Amino acid sequence: MVKKSVKKAIKKVNKPKKGKLTKKTSKDKPKVEKEIFIKTGIEGFDTFFDKGYGIPSGASVLIEGGPGSGKTVFCLATVNGLCKLGKKCLYMSFEEPEDRLIGHMQHFKWDVDGFIKKGLLRIKRFDAIDVSRSVEALLSAAKKELLIEVDPVLFPKDFSPDFIVIDSLTSIASAFSGHESRFRIYMEQLFRYLEKNKITNFLIREVSAPSHIGTTFKEQGDAVSFLSDGIIILYNVIYNDGIRKVAIELLKMRGSSFKKKIVEAEIISGKGLFVYPDKILKRGHDDFQLT
Ligand SMILES: Nc1ncnc2c1ncn2[C@@H]1O[C@H](COP(=O)(O)OP(=O)(O)OP(=O)(O)O)[C@@H](O)[C@H]1O
Ligand SMILES: [Mg+2]
Repeated sequence: MVKKSVKKAIKKVNKPKKGKLTKKTSKDKPKVEKEIFIKTGIEGFDTFFDKGYGIPSGASVLIEGGPGSGKTVFCLATVNGLCKLGKKCLYMSFEEPEDRLIGHMQHFKWDVDGFIKKGLLRIKRFDAIDVSRSVEALLSAAKKELLIEVDPVLFPKDFSPDFIVIDSLTSIASAFSGHESRFRIYMEQLFRYLEKNKITNFLIREVSAPSHIGTTFKEQGDAVSFLSDGIIILYNVIYNDGIRKVAIELLKMRGSSFKKKIVEAEIISGKGLFVYPDKILKRGHDDFQLT
């Protein structure tokens, strides 16, 4: 039985408030958060999230995994899912050239040409060395190290995306080799910029072993893990019969509710990336190893 006083309080809370907000015209309507959560559009993966949840809009999510584990394809698949919903996506590549990435999307029959034509997608290749040089120049000009702004170093001025992929932090980090403190400053500024502009982002990070095993990745800046809101891991799975497969795990997602499990995934030539939420890989099982 809900007490009378509680019922009264609930009624009061639910009652629409009179006042400035309700009187505003549509022109000066207050900006209401449009969406709280976004989904990747990769069906099997989106079922990881409990009902009503997803990737919090504006989150910074690390996409980690070993070489060839499917990091780029996972991000391109998400770009496909978001562009299909009319979201604007920017793919910043420090590794593969634009035409190769476009080629991958065409290969999987994702409408990359249509997305680009409609102004929903921009794929741009950057040189990590140019970035580290520009940061160095900005730092020496600013003298006080924390004063630099990263947006002139990286982001196109004429495109305001809802979603950004950076492929990869590993490539950027290698260009800062020997100047780890500069890389750290740059990362902090980058996260701050993305947060300030409320841009949901996937940051690819190549790791030689999955991060939850406890390895630290000093060369890529330890700051990155705790600056991020989420971590998605792609694994190379080696079965004892010699078959290699891919698996995926959603390890961390601040502000969301999701299932913790590692499941099989598959990149099918000409078709795309598929995640099988019921094919769970059990830790400690003798049949396979995760790398
Ligand atoms: N265009 C394509 N056609 C067919 N298969 C592809 C294509 N692109 C990727 N794949 C498959 O997906 C796998 C994973 O590729 P992906 O480039 O996403 O890995 P990655 O984790 O980004 O690798 P890297 O660490 O080298 O950047 C490849 O090994 C390949 O089998
Ligand atoms: Mg890649």
